[in-house]
Amino acid sequence: MCGIVGYVGPRVATPLLVEGLKRLEYRGYDSAGVAIMNGAGVETVKEAGKISRLEAMLAANPVHGTTGIAHTRWATHGPPNQVNAHPHVSDDGTIAVVHNGIIENATVLKKMLEGRGYTFRSDTDTEVLAHLIEECFDGNLEDAVIEALRQVEGTYGIAVVSSVDAHKIVAARKGSPLLVGLGDDEYFVASDVSAILAHTRKVVYLDDGEMAVVDRNGYRIVDLNAMEVQKKVSRIDWDLGQIERGGFAHFMLKEIFEQPQTLENTMRGRLLDDDGTAKLGGLNLTDDELLAFDNIVITACGTSWHSALIGEHMIEELTRVPVEVEYASEFRYRNPIVNERTLCIVISQSGETADTLAAMREAKRRGARTLGIVNVVGSTIAREADGGIYIHAGPEIGVASTKAFTSQVIALLLFTLKLGRLRDLSILTGREIIEAMHRLPGQIQQILDRSAEIEALAEEFKRASNFLYLGRGYNFPVALEGALKLKEISYIHAEGYPAAEMKHGPIALIDEMMPVVFIAPHDSVFDKLASNIQEVKARKGRVIAITSRDEEALAGKVDYEFRIPETIDLLMPVLASVPLQLLAYYIAVKRGSNVDQPRNLAKSVTVE
Ligand code: G6P
Repeated sequence: MCGIVGYVGPRVATPLLVEGLKRLEYRGYDSAGVAIMNGAGVETVKEAGKISRLEAMLAANPVHGTTGIAHTRWATHGPPNQVNAHPHVSDDGTIAVVHNGIIENATVLKKMLEGRGYTFRSDTDTEVLAHLIEECFDGNLEDAVIEALRQVEGTYGIAVVSSVDAHKIVAARKGSPLLVGLGDDEYFVASDVSAILAHTRKVVYLDDGEMAVVDRNGYRIVDLNAMEVQKKVSRIDWDLGQIERGGFAHFMLKEIFEQPQTLENTMRGRLLDDDGTAKLGGLNLTDDELLAFDNIVITACGTSWHSALIGEHMIEELTRVPVEVEYASEFRYRNPIVNERTLCIVISQSGETADTLAAMREAKRRGARTLGIVNVVGSTIAREADGGIYIHAGPEIGVASTKAFTSQVIALLLFTLKLGRLRDLSILTGREIIEAMHRLPGQIQQILDRSAEIEALAEEFKRASNFLYLGRGYNFPVALEGALKLKEISYIHAEGYPAAEMKHGPIALIDEMMPVVFIAPHDSVFDKLASNIQEVKARKGRVIAITSRDEEALAGKVDYEFRIPETIDLLMPVLASVPLQLLAYYIAVKRGSNVDQPRNLAKSVTVE
């Protein structure tokens, strides 16, 4: 979603800002722009479409200056065109603003400002901020920003420059991530660490209600009463190689192929083989506290919600604690039954999804303990949760989540082992699970080594207009995730269903044009699933089966079969997801889609 980069220092700002924007491309956007202090005033260049278009404009008409801010916009208020692109500039042309988030009282403020003679040029809520800051400006930019933000309702991450109080960036945060990057005699502001990783690994994360005032001589963090706040400097341990494609055609493919390694990283140091349990240092809960919860609620969005469904199944089966899974966007506005005896697990790759964060805060308000299963270290959910499990999957750049999903499932299994062993799970079962976990990375590698088979399958099905994905038990969420992957990046309509539920509706869709992917490994519900396959075949559907062994029941019943290694039921979702990720990827590539930045989607959805 929208991205912010800012620079103050001795170097020419434009190339650094454009480079930063490119690092944020993966988040999803539809227009981009920069505002540079060029010595005479604020010069703004912006364009709809890809950053390459902005870059071409800047190459044709270079803008010189060593202080600037830049933005990639993902449209909320008004279409993605040049006028609505950020930065937005005040009426007198002295102040430029970039903004992530939504100003909820924009209409009221706009009316007030129009009444005072301000002219609005765009459809955006952000333009209100530019005029409001001008209205409050009295020579000092941070005072004007504080004054303006006091009148604003909604969410924001903003960066502001002024040609009157020049060589300074003022950045503020409420609900939309922002950080200050500390270089050598130079400073950055960014909404995501990837934007500045090439220049520094030292960052200060802003919390809600905080503002950074950054100039060539240093930075200060203050609250909205202008009181100085002491902040910790964090060191980022991701390196540049991890946010580059490294020879792969797309980030998504690189990330799919990284899974043997990323799963090792999720498990590293956490498995206690002899005791058949897991060690999780970040839970911040004693064993007694962990045993005292009556129920668990898991909340998440998108792919993370699918991993939550697998987690529900695991936790209930192995620990017998009741688990409920809820879309974060629904949970936050219901009146959920959550109290101090509830453990609320929040799953988020980015740690910044607005609905997930709001759901976590709601659970906290109701007295629940919160645990974050998060990838991005230092993200808001990671910082605000009472404890958590980092999945350590490394930066995920492809918009369609792949390696984060499989690592989330493993993190949930680690948690299940820990809680299960405190309850009734036997040491022998615990050990069996851990043995299977150790085999997993190698088994994924075996699947990846056969990616050409999936590519051939993609060739066969690339023209389909619809797809059904069916699975049961642990593999029903895999069906949902397989369908989501396909629709996200290939734009083919795809639905996931519990296989037996097919009879209650989707069966009406089946004819010789309908490919149906069955996730049918040899597990406890295989026989049931074999009957569902027969039902599809009887209606001439084209069956692609993900299986794990030669099954007599399937002889002559499937059109294509991809066999994955055998494992325990609990781990099948991880293995079965990999061919489905590859299938979606290859179909999307063959249809000419922009795999890493699919239309309309954002990597991290920081608005409601
Ligand atoms: C967006 C992304 C999805 C992701 C979802 C939740 O929709 O495109 O890939 O699953 O957000 O994101 P989170 O970072 O909270 O896991």
